[in-house]
Amino acid sequence: MKILVTGGAGFIGSHVVDFLVERGDDVVVVDNLSTGKKENLNPKALFYKLDINSEVLEEIFKGSIEIVIHLAAQVSVSKSQENPAQDAFVNINGSLNLINFTKKYGVEKFIYINSAAIFGDPHYLPIDEHHPRNPKANYGISKKVVEDYLKLSKINYVSLRLANVYGPRQIAEAEGGVVAIFSKAVINGETVFIHGDGEQTRDFIFVTDAAKAIICAMDSGRGCFNIGTGRKTTINELIKIIKSICPSEIHEQEAPVRGGDIHDSFFEVGKAREFLEWEAETSLKDGLKETIDYERNKTKNIRSNLRL
Ligand SMILES: NC(=O)c1ccc[n+]([C@@H]2O[C@H](COP(=O)([O-])OP(=O)(O)OC[C@H]3O[C@@H](n4cnc5c(N)ncnc54)[C@H](O)[C@@H]3O)[C@@H](O)[C@H]2O)c1
Repeated sequence: MKILVTGGAGFIGSHVVDFLVERGDDVVVVDNLSTGKKENLNPKALFYKLDINSEVLEEIFKGSIEIVIHLAAQVSVSKSQENPAQDAFVNINGSLNLINFTKKYGVEKFIYINSAAIFGDPHYLPIDEHHPRNPKANYGISKKVVEDYLKLSKINYVSLRLANVYGPRQIAEAEGGVVAIFSKAVINGETVFIHGDGEQTRDFIFVTDAAKAIICAMDSGRGCFNIGTGRKTTINELIKIIKSICPSEIHEQEAPVRGGDIHDSFFEVGKAREFLEWEAETSLKDGLKETIDYERNKTKNIRSNLRL
């Protein structure tokens, strides 16, 4: 199949592209490399360094795209608070540009990668697909609005609300990249800052499991799905597992709770299991081992390139 992946040079997008290439699909990647990296790009995918707001995008749609997988986004919660217009320009306008061409060129399916951020503070746990969507930050608003446009658009779409994704290629500088931050810190002997008492919970899903859910949504499913493990983990538990994997010391320091942060979040995943025939398979310990190994090799390569 001919598939357009926006954000295919990014953390999650590059894993999706790798799976598609492996399956033998014809993959076109659009990414402006704002947070994505050239080294993440699969050489077998056709790459266009392009903004999703660009009109030039139409030329790509003229080439008979069958499925759009839309991951490109402004992903920083704090940037969305500082500059809501910029966040909306990328996340709303950019998505509408893609939706417009999807309609115009009769693309078979539009897979939108959404976020748990659309739910805001939970009214109940675990969060299922019927849970009210009350985002707590502008990033959540822009991600939610696109889902609403899709609902009215009459195009065949799937919106996958991803929980906290972690794994190789995530950048520690990214928001919500707590595992990447902790992995880097444990390898480099840096201090990790725990915002609040560390008892806040998240649903941590390994990146290849999230990418597999996206692949499953190509063949089946319509509408909205919550994609997570269905298990909650506190930040304190996360640190405990990392300590058991990595014998070096973690220096912990308490920091103030961040505005816009949600205390507890984890997903009910029965709908995805039933309709996408998908389930997360990687245990947190195995996923963390893989992530720490990746971070360790990366650090080793940087040090040897610098001859340190
Ligand atoms: N990482 C998570 O835990 C998580 C959780 C829920 C949802 N998501 C969603 O998954 C998607 C991918 O996020 P990620 O974590 O891989 O982040 P990422 O920053 O690695 O990926 C985003 C990609 O989009 C590209 N991009 C940004 N603005 C663009 C633009 N205007 N035009 C073209 N390309 C642009 C970036 O260069 C980058 O490669 C996003 O839509 C995000 O909202 C991520």
